[in-house]
Amino acid sequence: MSINALNLLYAVSTLFLSITPISAVFISINCGATGTLTENSIQWVDDHAYIKTGQPQEAYAPPSEVLGTLRAFPTGKKNCYTVNVDGGSKILVRASFYYGDYDSLSSPPTFDLLLDGNHWATVNTSATEAVYGLSYEAIYTVQSNVTSVCVAQTLPNQLPFINSLEVRSLLSSMYSHVDSSRVLLLATRAAATANNTPIRNPDDVYDRIWNPALGSLSLHFGLNVSSNDAASVAVKVEDNPPEAIFHNAVTTTIPTAGPLRASIMLDSSSLCLTEAPIYMTAYFSEIARLGSNQKRSFQMYVNNHPVSSPIIPPYGSAAEFYLANTTASSNTNFTLKPTADSTLFPLMNAYEIYTISDPLAGGTNTKDGTWRDYQRYKADSVYCSSGPGTCVYHQHTLGNGSVAAPTPALV
Ligand SMILES: *[C@@H]1O[C@H](CO)[C@@H](O)[C@H](O)[C@H]1NC(C)=O
Ligand SMILES: *[C@@H]1O[C@H](CO)[C@@H](O)[C@H](O)[C@H]1NC(C)=O
Ligand SMILES: *[C@@H]1O[C@H](CO)[C@@H](O)[C@H](O)[C@H]1NC(C)=O
Ligand SMILES: *[C@@H]1O[C@H](CO)[C@@H](O)[C@H](O)[C@H]1NC(C)=O
Ligand SMILES: *[C@@H]1O[C@H](CO)[C@@H](O)[C@H](O)[C@H]1NC(C)=O
Ligand SMILES: *[C@@H]1O[C@H](CO)[C@@H](O)[C@H](O)[C@H]1NC(C)=O
Repeated sequence: MSINALNLLYAVSTLFLSITPISAVFISINCGATGTLTENSIQWVDDHAYIKTGQPQEAYAPPSEVLGTLRAFPTGKKNCYTVNVDGGSKILVRASFYYGDYDSLSSPPTFDLLLDGNHWATVNTSATEAVYGLSYEAIYTVQSNVTSVCVAQTLPNQLPFINSLEVRSLLSSMYSHVDSSRVLLLATRAAATANNTPIRNPDDVYDRIWNPALGSLSLHFGLNVSSNDAASVAVKVEDNPPEAIFHNAVTTTIPTAGPLRASIMLDSSSLCLTEAPIYMTAYFSEIARLGSNQKRSFQMYVNNHPVSSPIIPPYGSAAEFYLANTTASSNTNFTLKPTADSTLFPLMNAYEIYTISDPLAGGTNTKDGTWRDYQRYKADSVYCSSGPGTCVYHQHTLGNGSVAAPTPALV
């Protein structure tokens, strides 16, 4: 290589460094473990660099090796993991919990999960879904150069614990239609999959977990999964979904007489019983080269009100729809309905529904707070005002993904 080429390379890399100060993180912490392990093609590290308190423990019959160890906190009202992240960058944080009777007391506890000092969720490990592990996921812009995830004791003798914590950098341009003081709390992320396996890293470089949209059933209420004829799908939409979600689509199978009436209804049961602001995305790609007399056109409806213009999935590339200005609950119907001029039923490749949090309060308080401190944080922002047990941000992503996946239904 000539000197000039080297100089150019140097100049280019300097420029690159100076315009991208954000250093990407992809950190997977296996709480309570010793050493590293590889699972789901991800390198997991133990938690010694991230926390000084708590006791390592082992869970019985874990659904995965990572969930087989945990860190329990017999002392302190609040115990925190802190991770260095560039201030102003956007990250995805996932915290997972699997009790596995680690203390041989057969008494799964309930405790609180906090994000940068704000109430995130109440983790009830005796909930039915907790049998497979509970996972909570948040997407947000970090305010300082560190982010903290804490568990806090709220009930006598119910000790908090945590099995894993994951932090992944996203692009700032992703999920951007919400102001930067608010957090997106995942309710549902589902994709049409040919087999019953979730799509995640390495297919999704951001390691979002896309659950099988039809669960263990290939045919469910008139819905089917059809493979895409296109050899590849060019993905140039703002939230950068993995190309893998376009290899298959959820399609409808029951033709109706007369005007097309078949629709795809998205599952919203992971939302709270009470209305809250939501952020929804949906992704589409046509699965076959359509004839000149064919047209697939449909609209997204929220409770019978159209919220999109006609969506015509492109063949060989991707389209995205998002909705960030609506409130919804677990009773809200999200439905894809054909337009009057469509000759084909709707299809859908994937969708996500998040709840939008209240603005984050205060900075990062990584200290083990007093009880009174903690009560204050809790009062500052309650993300979900419905009663206990009515708002479960559970994701069955921790085993092989075969359980209780969202189930779009034909209406
Ligand atoms: C998940 O599937 C893999 C491959 O089929 C299998 O080896 C593994 O035991 C399964 N894990 C669980 C928790 O079912
Ligand atoms: C946790 O969930 C179980 C089962 O749904 C319920 O009986 C219990 O009351 C819940 N605990 C708390 C503290 O909400
Ligand atoms: C993050 O750290 C950098 C370098 O130390 C500093 O310039 C910047 O102000 C910090 N950002 C925040 C939000 O604290
Ligand atoms: C469902 O999809 C599969 C795979 O694309 C296809 O072979 C089958 O014919 C479809 N079933 C119906 C009822 O359309
Ligand atoms: C949602 O759809 C169900 C089933 O079609 C229907 O019974 C219900 O009334 C709908 N809810 C709203 C709010 O439109
Ligand atoms: C919500 O966004 C849609 C699409 O961008 C727009 O048509 C609609 O007017 C907005 N509604 C409100 C209440 O802002």
